[in-house]
Amino acid sequence: MRNPIAAYIAGTLAGFVFGCLFRFDAYLVKDRGSEFSNKVTTDQRLIYIVTPTYARPQQKAELTRMSYTLRLAGNVHWVIVEDSSGPTELVSNLVRHSGIPFTLLHVETPPEYKLRTKDPNWLKPRGVLQRNAALRFLREQTPASDDSVVYFADDDNTYDLELFDEMRLTQKASVWPVGLVGGLMVERPIVVDGRISRFNAVFRPNRPYPIDMAAFAVSLKLLKTHPYAVFSLNVQRGYQESHLLTQLLTKPSELEPRADNCTKVLVWHTRTENADLKLEKRLSMPSNHGIEV
Ligand code: UGA
Ligand code: MN
Repeated sequence: MRNPIAAYIAGTLAGFVFGCLFRFDAYLVKDRGSEFSNKVTTDQRLIYIVTPTYARPQQKAELTRMSYTLRLAGNVHWVIVEDSSGPTELVSNLVRHSGIPFTLLHVETPPEYKLRTKDPNWLKPRGVLQRNAALRFLREQTPASDDSVVYFADDDNTYDLELFDEMRLTQKASVWPVGLVGGLMVERPIVVDGRISRFNAVFRPNRPYPIDMAAFAVSLKLLKTHPYAVFSLNVQRGYQESHLLTQLLTKPSELEPRADNCTKVLVWHTRTENADLKLEKRLSMPSNHGIEV
């Protein structure tokens, strides 16, 4: 640009545009910060997050990821129940250092109900006795006035932070879609005029409540007014959720639809593949000797 006045104007304009963009960018970063910080306020309704967990190579990775989700989820109390004969060092240390208020319980699934490595993972129910131990703890160890929400959150799923605010509105029991489950992109209730009219499930659609464990939350008070409602080791595949909910409710339309009338996916039924460790046997000593992985 040969004309110095034109060059000056162009330079000033470019500086102005760049300045605006820069400020806009800084503004966005700041906004994101304020969205996620200081979320833990005790005036938020408390959620008890019930998580069964068991030892396997990827356990620490799953629980680490989950602990970061829960740190951002606001006012929660993590009821973590190990499928083991006693508390393990790995899980005890992890929850203690997570900064999340927690209760650590343990109960071992009897060997005849336990999956073997080669079994398809749907063969036997998972997390049943662990969730029941949490139910017992919640019924017996929380004050009668406790008006919290209870959510059964497996250690391998993926949770959007918005989900926790949705479930804080639970009166008796609330429900929402779950992504990547039941052979579908999304398994969800169909809502008509603000009420559940049916479900889109294709996997065992005749289940009374054809939804995943991640699809609902209940109020602690509802659990206490139905003191014998529990999960069971002896129900057909896919019937755990129905087994509990039929004891707590009389019909699916009693479920309160959340997540924009069940049109938004805020939780995904993700699964981590089993770690391939076949080369370990080529070492003279395990690669994790003396190292927690
Ligand atoms: C699906 C549902 O999403 C589960 O909530 C339900 O328990 C399960 O089916 C079932 O039908 O029993 P899926 O992904 O197949 O879940 O199960 P996992 O994620 O392998 O296990 C569910 C929870 O139980 C996890 O938190 C896991 O850590 C725990 N678990 C699993 C144990 O405590 N012990 C085990 O031996 C296996
Ligand atoms: Mn899972």
